[in-house]
Amino acid sequence: MVRKKISLIGAGNVGASLAQFLALKELGDVYLFDVVDGVPEGKALDILEGNPHWGADVKVRGFTTADPSAYKNLENSDVIVITAGLARKPGMSRDDLLNKNVEIMASIAKNVKKYSPGSKVVVVSNPADVMAYAFQKVSGVKPERIMGLGGSLDSARFRTFLAEELSVSVEDVNAFVIGGHGDDMVPFIRYSNVAGIPITSLLSKEKIEEIVKRTRFGGGEIVNFLKTGSAYYAPGISITAMVESIIKDKKRVIPCAAYLAGSHAKHYGADGIYIGLPIKIGENGVEQIYDMDFNPDEKALWVKTVESVKSSCQKVDDFLKTSN
Ligand code: LAC
Repeated sequence: MVRKKISLIGAGNVGASLAQFLALKELGDVYLFDVVDGVPEGKALDILEGNPHWGADVKVRGFTTADPSAYKNLENSDVIVITAGLARKPGMSRDDLLNKNVEIMASIAKNVKKYSPGSKVVVVSNPADVMAYAFQKVSGVKPERIMGLGGSLDSARFRTFLAEELSVSVEDVNAFVIGGHGDDMVPFIRYSNVAGIPITSLLSKEKIEEIVKRTRFGGGEIVNFLKTGSAYYAPGISITAMVESIIKDKKRVIPCAAYLAGSHAKHYGADGIYIGLPIKIGENGVEQIYDMDFNPDEKALWVKTVESVKSSCQKVDDFLKTSN
């Protein structure tokens, strides 16, 4: 069997943690790319040298993209994960990063288009839904091959907080978060349960509201502790779950930002944007989008998150128009 190739563009905290998780799980050879001279080579070598203790037989290689011809090493990647860009500092929203990160994303997208347009792509740079949109516009990669990180991480946070509150195994908590990966994301209470038992019958309304709020601001909570950057261990694991489902064609249902078109666009009242939805992830990328029914309260939350993602996508369109 030919080993899979996973390329990570961005070797900062998220990219490097992800590289190690992927290597330890032997999901494929890991190629790390970063613009900062020496960083991808150094981190790749460091991760590689730990592999003997795990019996992990994969290559880990680093490439500095200060010379853009290094992007040639993206060729034939099965999966590409993009984490490059600025991360938040305390007081910043994910949207504050938009202008700078869209510029970075556009230049990466051009290189993916040139060297590996057939890959599945996971976009992590924030605001992730909007960056997935920008990446698709510039790269021309098929929309259903692109996913954005959001719900996978937000749901892990939601499950963690519920499990801690109820003193039950995290394994038995099913909960998910849809909508944009921003402060108005939608933790879906009605479908959240512990081994099938609805959380509404286990926790008070007030307690659930408190957990929902903590989930929404879960990224910010960590930024406030770290002060110099944002979360990376839980993001790294959350991306690993997505990449594993692609590489092994597991067909896991994980909420992630996916492209809305056709009947799904009609159902969700948004067309041509990426936004967090429950999706099936397999070797082809997004293999199915599930249409969920909303009650009036959920609908109101959904409309709000759609509007904020849409208005950020409009900013991307304006940026791309002026930069062409
Ligand atoms: C967070 C970043 C990765 O939610 O968006 O921590």
